[in-house]
Amino acid sequence: MQSLLERELVVVTGKGGVGKTTIAAAIGLLAAHRGLRAIVVEVGDQTRLPELFGHPPGQTGAENKLQERLSSISIDPDRALLEWLQALGGRVSGRVLASSGTFQYFAAAAPGAKELVSMVKIWELTQGRRWQRRAVGYDLVVLDAPATGNALGMLGSPQTFGSIARVGPIAGQAQRLRELLEEPERTGYVAVTLPTDMAVTEALELQDGLRAQLGRTLDAVIVNGLLPQRFTPAELRLIVESSGDGPDAGGSAPPAGARRRGVAADAVVRRSAAQAAQTVHDRARFQHNQLQRLRRRSFEVAGVPFVWAAGMDLPAIERVAEQLGRKL
Ligand SMILES: Nc1ncnc2c1ncn2[C@@H]1O[C@H](COP(=O)(O)OP(=O)(O)O)[C@@H](O)[C@H]1O
Ligand SMILES: [Mg+2]
Repeated sequence: MQSLLERELVVVTGKGGVGKTTIAAAIGLLAAHRGLRAIVVEVGDQTRLPELFGHPPGQTGAENKLQERLSSISIDPDRALLEWLQALGGRVSGRVLASSGTFQYFAAAAPGAKELVSMVKIWELTQGRRWQRRAVGYDLVVLDAPATGNALGMLGSPQTFGSIARVGPIAGQAQRLRELLEEPERTGYVAVTLPTDMAVTEALELQDGLRAQLGRTLDAVIVNGLLPQRFTPAELRLIVESSGDGPDAGGSAPPAGARRRGVAADAVVRRSAAQAAQTVHDRARFQHNQLQRLRRRSFEVAGVPFVWAAGMDLPAIERVAEQLGRKL
């Protein structure tokens, strides 16, 4: 399979809160490490990327440099529309540019306009020749898309518009966007999921939605937040047995002279430690079953461990990127 990083656009989506922004940042970082010039795109007034990389929050609509070869932008549909109008018509009067009502007018005329304008801006970021002649070009655009249903709405906006406006510059642009989204060698689709039943089901539904809407399938599913499988079943049995909770528990009395204070407390600690080990083991096994559910499909499945840190800072994202790099 052609590597995800060799596309023009990678769309990252999945259920809310599963780690889309974290994974989009890690994919951007991985691309930059491999020598590509990449930009991570946020939408819906989100501006988390600059802070994740230790910068002050960026201004929406502007491209922020995060580090060597890696930038981010939070799309401002108002500004994107004005840029598009300028690119279409060459000259847009200062009065139009200054009035914030332009977008509302356009959006009111056509539902889904905001999504289309955002997608057009994303298309523009993939182009070698940018609207602004001095703007840099990117090898890879990573879209930190909204959650599944909204993401499908956004990806379907060129089709919706293409059927409203059949000729003219908007129709032409909608067609170019469709080509970008539908051609496997140009756009890759990644679902992020937690190893839970519901999140995995939503990832599989996304797969069906993509096929129905764009004739595409997921290229990869990233299973985020995996717990390590620390013990083999034999090891776990040993832990449980030696904690006094095993099958022969209570059989052997403590050795003579050991009935001092502290022995009882020690047994309690050992028992809770064994219970904790058992719980984590059971959960890890359940998560593993969810992974197996995904592995039966055609897409690449990559696991990302749960990171035990106070927050996902740059070193934590670096670790995730490194992990993904082994698969992508
Ligand atoms: N592998 C991970 N290990 C630990 N915490 C994570 C991991 N991935 C994401 N998180 C945390 O989970 C929360 C949700 O992640 P985020 O990337 O914002 O999800 P989304 O963009 O899907 O809403 C954040 O607080 C993030 O720091
Ligand atoms: Mg997010």
